[in-house]
Amino acid sequence: MASQPERVLSGMRPTGRLHLGHYHGVLKNWLRLQHEYECFFFVADWHALTTDYEDPGPLAGYVHEMLVDWLAVGISPKSATVFVQSRVPEHAELHLLLSMITPLGWLERVPSYKDQQEQLKEKDLATYGFLGYPLLQAADILIYKASRVPVGEDQVPHIELAREVARRFNHLYGGEPGFAEKAEEAVDRMGKRQARLYRELRRRFQEQGDREALERARALLEAQQNLTFADKERLFGYLEGHARQVLPEPHPLLTPTAKMPGLDGRKMSKSYGNTIALRDPPEEVARKLRTMPTDPARVRRTDPGNPERCPVWGFHQVYSDEETRRWVVEGCTTAGIGCLECKQRIVDAVLAELRPIQGRILELEGDPALVRTVVEEGCERARDVARETMEEVRQVMGLA
Ligand code: TRP
Ligand code: SF4
Repeated sequence: MASQPERVLSGMRPTGRLHLGHYHGVLKNWLRLQHEYECFFFVADWHALTTDYEDPGPLAGYVHEMLVDWLAVGISPKSATVFVQSRVPEHAELHLLLSMITPLGWLERVPSYKDQQEQLKEKDLATYGFLGYPLLQAADILIYKASRVPVGEDQVPHIELAREVARRFNHLYGGEPGFAEKAEEAVDRMGKRQARLYRELRRRFQEQGDREALERARALLEAQQNLTFADKERLFGYLEGHARQVLPEPHPLLTPTAKMPGLDGRKMSKSYGNTIALRDPPEEVARKLRTMPTDPARVRRTDPGNPERCPVWGFHQVYSDEETRRWVVEGCTTAGIGCLECKQRIVDAVLAELRPIQGRILELEGDPALVRTVVEEGCERARDVARETMEEVRQVMGLA
C-alpha cells in the first residue's frame, strides 16, 4: 500500500457571519495548508448547537454562508475536502462509542468547560451535549485519522483530550493475540536495512526516551511502500510499546497568524460587536472604520497623538507597508495628518481585499447547483473515510 501524505483536519462553528478575524486568523492559514497536506475542512454544525440549541433558526443560513465564503476566499474543492459535520453521521457513532471509555473527570477538567459557562452566563450550558463538546471534537479528528489539526491556542486542550482518548482506545482495543510476533514479522517485511534502522530507533526511544528517534521512526514508517495498512498500525503501536494504533494520536498545528484587531482594539470577535464581516457592503465597511475610536488624546486635529494608544494602528500592522506605517507615526505624533486621512488608507486596503471576495460570493450565490455539488461530493468523500474507520472501530469493540 502506498504511503499516505499527512492528513490535516479542521472545523469551524457556524454561529455567525465570517469576519476579517476568521479570514486573517484561520482561513489564510487553511489556504496555505491545502497545498501542503491532504486537507479536510468541515462546518461543525453540531458543535454550534451545543451552545445555541435554543435558537436554531439562523443555523442553516450560517452553514450555507460559511461554505460559500470558504469557497469565495479560495478554499478549493480540488485541493481540500469540504463538508458538513451532520452530513457524516458516523461522527456521532464514534462520539457515542468513545463516550464509553472517557472518564467524566477528563471532560470536566477541560478549561473551556468552566470558562465558557462563566462567559456565556445567559445560556444554560449545564447540558450533556456541552460537556461532551471536546469528545465530539475528538471523534471529528480521530475518525479521519488526522495527524495534524490547525487550531488556535485556546483549542490545544481539546487536541490533548483527543490524544488521551486515542491512547486509551488503543490501549483497550489495540491488543491482539500474538501482537509482538506479528509486529516482528512486519518489521522483517520492511527489508534488511530499514528493519535494522527501525529496531535501532525503537530501542533508542524505549530505552532512552529519545524523542528524536521516535520521530525518525515514525517518518520511516510513513515512507514505507510495502506494508499493509494493518501492519503499519502495528508498527506505529509497537514503536511505543503496547498495541496496535487503531486511532493515531493527532497533533495540534499551531501557526503564527496575523493578529486581527477589532474596531475597538480588542480581538475581533462577534461577542464584542467589533467585527467587519466578509459580506459587509462597502459603505458599511467604510462607515465602521471611519467611526472607529482613535487615540483619545487627539481631541482636535492639532493635538498630536500616539499610534500605540490607537486601535487604527492595529489595522496598519495588518494592512500597511513599512512606508505607510512611518507616515502614520510621523504624521500622528506631530499632528501632521488627521485621523480621517489616516483611516482612509485602511478603508482603501480593506475594500481592496474584500472586493474580489465579495465578487466571488455573488457569483457563487448565483449558482446554487455548483455549491451543492461541491458540498455533496465533499460529504461523500469524507463519509468514505469515516465509514472505513468505523468498520475497524466496530470490529475491535465487538460490534462487527
Ligand atoms: N472547537 C473548534 C472551535 O471552536 C471547532 C471544531 C469542532 C474543530 N471540531 C473540530 C476544530 C475538529 C478542529 C478539529 O474552533
Ligand atoms: Fe490613530 Fe491615525 Fe489618528 Fe494617530 S492619526 S490617532 S494612528 S487614527
